[in-house]
Amino acid sequence: MYQGKAFTLTRLPDGMAELTFDLQGESVNKFNLLAVSELGDVLTALEQAADIKGLLVTSAKEAFVVGADIMEFGEVFAKGPEGITDHLAENNRNFCRLEDLPFPVVVAINGFALGGGMEFCLACDYRVASERAKLGLPETKLGILPGWGGTVRLPRLVGVDTAVEWIASGKENDAPAALTARVVDAVVAPDKLREAAVFTLQQCITGKLDYHARREQKKAPLQLNFIESMMAFETSKAFVGAQAGRNYPSPVTAIKAMQKAADKSRDEALQIEAEAFAKVAQTPTAQALTGIFVSDQLLGKKAKSWEKKVDKKVSRAAVLGAGIMGGGIAYQSALKGVPIKMKDIAQQGIDLGLAEANKLLSKRVERKRMTAHEMGEVLNRIEPALTYDGFDQVEMVVEAVVENPKVKHSVLAEVEARVSADTIITSNTSTISISYLAKALQRPENFCGMHFFNPVSLMPLVEVIRGEQTSDNAIARTVAYANAMGKKPIVVKDCPGFLVNRVLFPYFAGFSMLVRDGVDYQRIDKVMETWGWPMGPAYLLDVVGIDTAVHAEKVMAEGYPERMQRDFTAAIDVLFAAGRLGQKNQQGFYDYQTDKKGKPEKRPSETALALVKESMTGNLEITDEDIVARMMIPMATELARCLEEGIVETAAEADMALVYGTGFPPFRGGVLRWIDQLGAAKFCAMAESFRDLGPLYLPPANLTDFAANNKKFYGWK
Ligand SMILES: NC(=O)c1ccc[n+]([C@@H]2O[C@H](COP(=O)([O-])OP(=O)(O)OC[C@H]3O[C@@H](n4cnc5c(N)ncnc54)[C@H](O)[C@@H]3O)[C@@H](O)[C@H]2O)c1
Repeated sequence: MYQGKAFTLTRLPDGMAELTFDLQGESVNKFNLLAVSELGDVLTALEQAADIKGLLVTSAKEAFVVGADIMEFGEVFAKGPEGITDHLAENNRNFCRLEDLPFPVVVAINGFALGGGMEFCLACDYRVASERAKLGLPETKLGILPGWGGTVRLPRLVGVDTAVEWIASGKENDAPAALTARVVDAVVAPDKLREAAVFTLQQCITGKLDYHARREQKKAPLQLNFIESMMAFETSKAFVGAQAGRNYPSPVTAIKAMQKAADKSRDEALQIEAEAFAKVAQTPTAQALTGIFVSDQLLGKKAKSWEKKVDKKVSRAAVLGAGIMGGGIAYQSALKGVPIKMKDIAQQGIDLGLAEANKLLSKRVERKRMTAHEMGEVLNRIEPALTYDGFDQVEMVVEAVVENPKVKHSVLAEVEARVSADTIITSNTSTISISYLAKALQRPENFCGMHFFNPVSLMPLVEVIRGEQTSDNAIARTVAYANAMGKKPIVVKDCPGFLVNRVLFPYFAGFSMLVRDGVDYQRIDKVMETWGWPMGPAYLLDVVGIDTAVHAEKVMAEGYPERMQRDFTAAIDVLFAAGRLGQKNQQGFYDYQTDKKGKPEKRPSETALALVKESMTGNLEITDEDIVARMMIPMATELARCLEEGIVETAAEADMALVYGTGFPPFRGGVLRWIDQLGAAKFCAMAESFRDLGPLYLPPANLTDFAANNKKFYGWK
């Protein structure tokens, strides 16, 4: 009946028809502009066919429909409120026409039905899902809200509480949970899906199931009286608002749209939803969060293209050093199914590494994310070792011994002699040059950096660092291994600090100067946390370790003397001299006490405040806005410089490295996107006003060029 590039419509026996979504040239189905337009044509064909008794909706892909095409958002959102509502209206008309067809519609949900894909399902009369299906409305995670009827049909179908939970959390739900929530009508084994959906459709056709009643329910106002409505919406707005925080407004906006539309019929409610959508879509938060999504896709694509070049999969790995990092790396590798030898020189180190893995796995078992049997299997994949026996069997080595160039040189040479000629050796060093470490090796081409972040189990980023002689093969295998470990690898060039520390230390330098000039570090923490950072700089320094920070800062100053050499005694020097090393010895800028859950709890420290006060040489009065500027400008100029120097290839990777490596607030979309949102000219003018603070406040050439020519790091996205 219809054959397009996204949809096919065919006749089935007994007067039924089947609409199959199979977007050509794509691995998943999504509602791009083409699919939306074709669906309109399909509906015309269906409306004109006089002899159809019922419609079955299916997907020919493994995922049912993953949603709207987010890659197109930039173009659509740039059209302004009217352009956005027009865009929404086209598919809303489609879904309403589907819902208004003169015969029943049943959808067979075989896999992911997310966002627009789920809204497509909601427009159908009955939903039959495979046990493998996953359903959800993740729009609020992107700073937007469902725009194709999700906020309208879901509450009318399953009630306000479930709708709020699904929409505000944005989370994916498995098929049984969707059945319990009555979002789907049946869940069956994957091989029974089609049969069950056809059976349901037949029941509708014969009148055993009243699909008309379903439709009426979805098209009518919500069946709540005023008091019930107030209770449901007001309570959830307060709760969701507190959970999401003021930087993520879209969940509450979605609830408000549902509330405003509660006493309206479908078509009026859709109008309210569209207006709310257009409003949030224009916010910098939506821009940032959808931008992050797009950048993450780019990271995935780049990692995949490296994986294609891999000569050998990593089936066995080894880590040298069973300390904080080595233990974490062994845990992560074993958790994701890659057996790993964990070698240390001391049994005590091994015991600590294993204890850490045990602790993390026990937590998983406690939270029912893993069975005790599975925990045993993971632990079995970690093979503790005090010798190099069996190292000739591994495809990958990660060196994570103490941060000492001499020790690392000797350990690297030692391990190279014990592995096979094509084993890739990597180092988790945070401050030592990869090209320098490679000097200890006979086969420097098989060596690169593999820089994990602490704690390894939680931090997604892995910097894969290319030294002067590193081969593509070494990079490819390391990227593939990082992927296999469930991490986000980003390939960067060797330089002091690599990418993340190179830009983090200028940020710390900004902090040191603020404190020197007399600003209370607790206030700086508060201001930066309000700005969005998960922890302020003083707190972060405590977590990093004051000793580590002092050491790393020296390395950075040697690497970039013109910008990073400091000529004053900073707060970290004073704390270090007083033996306050941060969280590791429970005293740094703050005091720490272990709480009931075993987590360090932060308290203000009179001792630290007094010590730091001694190092202050000024008495600066400053606005919160200037605190942010003085903190962020050094980080931003250095990141732009890294891009200019080709340390990192793209703005997207530069920004994602900070999001995944430091917890930079996702709603700001990245440091370079922050510059874009401010405008490079405004950023440069702001930097100029702080030029007396030194060269970290001078924008590099790419930024001044952007400012002069009104350029941006990103297009709309
Ligand atoms: N801790 C962090 O936050 C962090 C973050 C990123 C990178 N790193 C880097 O990771 C590496 C390890 O750091 P860490 O914090 O885990 O240190 P750590 O002191 O906790 O652990 C080092 C381990 O290496 C072992 N070791 C020493 N010499 C060895 C040898 N010859 N062979 C095998 N094992 C040996 C020690 O016994 C110890 O168990 C360092 O290069 C560090 O710069 C650390």
